[in-house]
Amino acid sequence: MLEGPNRPALRYGGCAKLRRTASRAALLGTLAALAACASEGERGVPQDIAGTVHVCSSCHGPAGRSFNATFPRLAGQQKEYLVTQLKAFRDKTRADPHAHTYMWGMAAHLSDATIEGLANYYSAQPPVAGTPGSAADMAAGQAIFRNGIEAEAVPPCMSCHGEKAEGADGVPRLAGQHQAYLERQLAAFVSLARANEIMHETTKNMNEEQIRQISAYLAAQ
Ligand code: HEC
Ligand code: HEC
Repeated sequence: MLEGPNRPALRYGGCAKLRRTASRAALLGTLAALAACASEGERGVPQDIAGTVHVCSSCHGPAGRSFNATFPRLAGQQKEYLVTQLKAFRDKTRADPHAHTYMWGMAAHLSDATIEGLANYYSAQPPVAGTPGSAADMAAGQAIFRNGIEAEAVPPCMSCHGEKAEGADGVPRLAGQHQAYLERQLAAFVSLARANEIMHETTKNMNEEQIRQISAYLAAQ
C-alpha cells in the first residue's frame, strides 16, 4: 500500500511534506499514505488492537505519551505491570476514585488477549523524557529515592523501582511520569484507596511534603 515514492517520505516523518505535495497524479498513493499519517505517533499499532488504542489515545495521548497529569503516561511502562493494572481495573480491585470513574468502564470488556496486545504495544513505545520541577524538591526527592527515610521506616524506592526508576516486571516505571499523577497515587496508597500492601507499608509514614519531593524527583527522570 505504501510502495513507491511516498514510502521514504513517510518513513522519515514526512507527513507534513506529503500533505503539501499531494498532486493529482499521485492522488491514490498519497491518500493511502495520508491515512497512515492520521494516526501519526501511533504507527506500528497491530491491526487487532488499533481500534482500542485509538480510544485509549483520547486520554493517554498518542502512543501513550499523555500531556495531562490526570492521565498517566503508558509509553515505556513495564509490560507485566500494565497487564496487572488492566486486569485490576477489569476486576474492580484497583478502586481509587479516578480508577473507578475512568478505567473500570474502559477495561470491563477487554479480553485477556487484548490486554496482552495493549501491554505489548505500550511497553514497546519509547518513554517520555522527564520534566524538571522545583530544584529543592528534586534534591530532597533524590535522597528519599536513594536512601529512603530511616526514621520513618521508608525504604529506598530505588531498591524495587530500579536505579533509574525504570521498573521491572510487576514493578512500574516511575521515571518521566506526571508529578501530580504520582502524588495522587502515593496518597491513594497511604489512605488505602488504592489497596496494595507493599506500597501501603512503604508510604504510610510519608507526609505531604515528602510525597511532593519524591514525585518531583521521579517526574524529572
Ligand atoms: C476517559 C479517559 C481514559 C480512557 C479513554 C482510558 N483511560 Fe486509562 N486511565 C485513565 C485515568 C484517569 C487513569 C488514572 C487512574 C487513577 O488515577 O488511578 C488511567 C489509568 C490507566 C492505567 C494505569 C497506569 C499506571 O501507571 O498505573 C493503564 C494501564 C491504563 N489506564 C490503560 C488504558 C488503556 C489500555 C485504555 C484503552 C483501552 C485506557 N486506559 C483508556 C483514563 C482513561
Ligand atoms: C518492596 C518494593 C517496593 C518499594 C521499596 C517501593 N515500591 Fe513502589 N511499587 C512497588 C510495586 C510492586 C508496585 C505496583 C503496585 C501495584 O501493582 O498496584 C509499586 C507501585 C508504585 C507506584 C504506582 C505507579 C503508577 O504508575 O501508578 C508509585 C507512584 C510508587 N510505587 C512509588 C514508590 C516510591 C515513591 C517509593 C519509595 C518511597 C516506592 N515506590 C518504593 C514496589 C515497591
